This record gives sequence, structure tokens and C-alpha cells, in this order.
Amino acid sequence: MGDHDTRPENTVIPTVRWEEPPDGPVLVLLDQTRLPHEEVELRCTDVQALVGAIRSLAVRGAPVLGVAGAYGVALAAARGYDVEDAVDLLANARPTAVNLAYGVERAAAAYRGAGQDEGPAAALAEARAVHAEDAAASTAMAAHGERLLAELVSGGGYRILTHCNTGALVSGGEGTALGVVLATHRSGELRRLWVDETRPLLQGSRLTAYEAARAGMPYTLLADSAAGSLFAAGEVDAVLVGADRIAADGSTANKVGSYPLAVLAHHHQVPFVVVAPTTTVDLETPDGASIEIEQRPGSEVTDLAPTPLGTQAYNPAFDVTPAALITAIVTENGVISPVTADRLAAVCAKRTGV
Ligand code: MRU
Repeated sequence: MGDHDTRPENTVIPTVRWEEPPDGPVLVLLDQTRLPHEEVELRCTDVQALVGAIRSLAVRGAPVLGVAGAYGVALAAARGYDVEDAVDLLANARPTAVNLAYGVERAAAAYRGAGQDEGPAAALAEARAVHAEDAAASTAMAAHGERLLAELVSGGGYRILTHCNTGALVSGGEGTALGVVLATHRSGELRRLWVDETRPLLQGSRLTAYEAARAGMPYTLLADSAAGSLFAAGEVDAVLVGADRIAADGSTANKVGSYPLAVLAHHHQVPFVVVAPTTTVDLETPDGASIEIEQRPGSEVTDLAPTPLGTQAYNPAFDVTPAALITAIVTENGVISPVTADRLAAVCAKRTGV
């Protein structure tokens, strides 16, 4: 296990691992498409395999896409592939999570700056740095998030609703939103984690439930459409989600289904909190409408349940929650609340790395 390899508690395989066997470097991934039933390694020896893994969601979630993208550049450099081609392929493998292009660019800049001979080692060192910084960001977000919850929710014993998957599977560390939840669990403050199923690819039931079970959290799964009745019953103290891209005005793209939760939370006066490292903030994207939303194949929806042959499906991977519906954004550099463009820019100005 390398320095920054974290894994969902008790998992055999780390989320992302760099290996150097005699026949050349390999990026080893925990194949998330096979979870929860099988923990299977996916060994990428070339960029095409890694791009396939990113597109199929074998590796997924914004922060770890940045880590994997950076290692992808190191892989291309070490194996003698055209690094600029690799940069192009990797950065465009999925469009919404800005961390992917960020990680790829960091490793690419290190490669370019080091010259032909030293380039591969420089790209790898930078990928390791992206990995380590993301792990550190997780730890800091967990601490900030836990303090914020204590301020927002009176009485202790939190009932937290989350959507998609945001734990060690998406991070160099213990994750974003689920990292905060794990911290509250460890300090005995988690009364219940409500896990949205997260249709159509079921990151909630397949992955968050898997991570919650391994950590011994008290958790309950619900169909996404059951969230409204849960709020109405007064069973939610806070909503915690991650982010794939946060625009300069604080609008946040996250897994489709996050925006309806923000609307519900607003109606029921429940805090809606986004937890994301500053690498997820894109100050060059001015607002939510400017965020490119990945459209996935309709078959991901139609294959879930019997549908008449030829049925078409609407399948955006993400939706955008406007800043006005977000109570706070928790980053490694502190908490932004209320969410304004100025506060977001100030927190990003403290960013380490590039
Ligand atoms: O399509 P996915 O599974 O990559 O989507 C992931 C999410 O939407 C997560 O909530 C987001 O990346 C934040 S993870 C810290």
C-alpha cells in the first residue's frame, strides 16, 4: 500500500494505486462497477484502458477523477505514449467534474516543465502530490464539516440525508460529504444516515451503503422519490452532498437528484450543505448555466426495469443547485456561508497546489 492509498474501511483493494512491476508501471483501480458484491482490481497499463474505466464509472467521483487523471499522464509518460494525446483523451473523458482536467493539467505541466528525460518522474511526483493533497483535504473537510453540523443542528444525534457516493471510493482520503458523516459516526454523533438510492446507476445503494456498512454506521436506504416524505416526517436534520463542479457564483453541479433535495430542504428549513475540496471550484465557469452537464445513454434508465422496446430516456448525470439554496460549502480551507462569489474566491485564493 502506498503512502496515500486509502480504502473504504476493511476493503482489500485501495481506490487508486500506482504499481511498478518489472514489466512496467500500472495504475490499479478498485473496479466500482463490480461493487458491492465483488472487490475486483482493474489494472490499467495504458491510457485507453484508463479512459474506458473513467467512462464506465469503474473509477468515479470528482476528487478521485483528478487523482486518476494525474496518474494517467504519469502512466503515458512512463510507458512512452504521446503525452499530449494522453492529456487530451483523459481531460475529456467526462465533462462535468472539473477535478479531472485539473489533475491531468497538474501532471502535464510538471511533465512539460521537466523536459524529456526527467518528465516521467516529474509527472509521477506531481500525481502523487495531487493524491496526497486530496487525502489532506478530506481530513480538513471532515473537521470543518463536523464543527459546522454542531452549529447548524441543535441537540446532537444527527440524522443526515446523502445522495450519490462521496466516501473513500471518490477520494485520496476518506471522502467529502461521507467523510464528514464518518467523522460524526466516530464521535458518536450520527443517529442515522439516510442513503438515497441514486438512480439510475445506484451509487447510493451500491456504493454508499457498502461504505456505510463497512464502517458500521446506522444507515437506511431509500428510493430517491421517498425523500419528500422523509422531510415531511421531520426525519432529516441536514443534507450533505458532494460536488462535481462549483461555478464562481457558488452554483453547484452534483449527481442528478441533488437539486430536488435542495428544494425540499429549503421548504422544510433543513440545512443543505455541499462538501467539496477547492479543486472542485472552477472560477472560470461564471454560473450554473455555464456548467457542461454530462448526458449519459438512455439505456442506463431503460435497462433498470422493463420498458416497452424503443422507449427513449432523459438521462443527465448531474443537476445544478443554485447558491441561494445552499446553506454552506465546506472546503479544506474553511466553510463558506452564506455562499457568495466573493467568499468562494477568497477561500480558493488559499489553495495550495496549482
Ligand atoms: O457520476 P459519478 O458517480 O462520478 O458522480 C459522482 C457524484 O456526483 C459525486 O457526488 C461527486 O463527484 C462528489 S464526490 C466527492
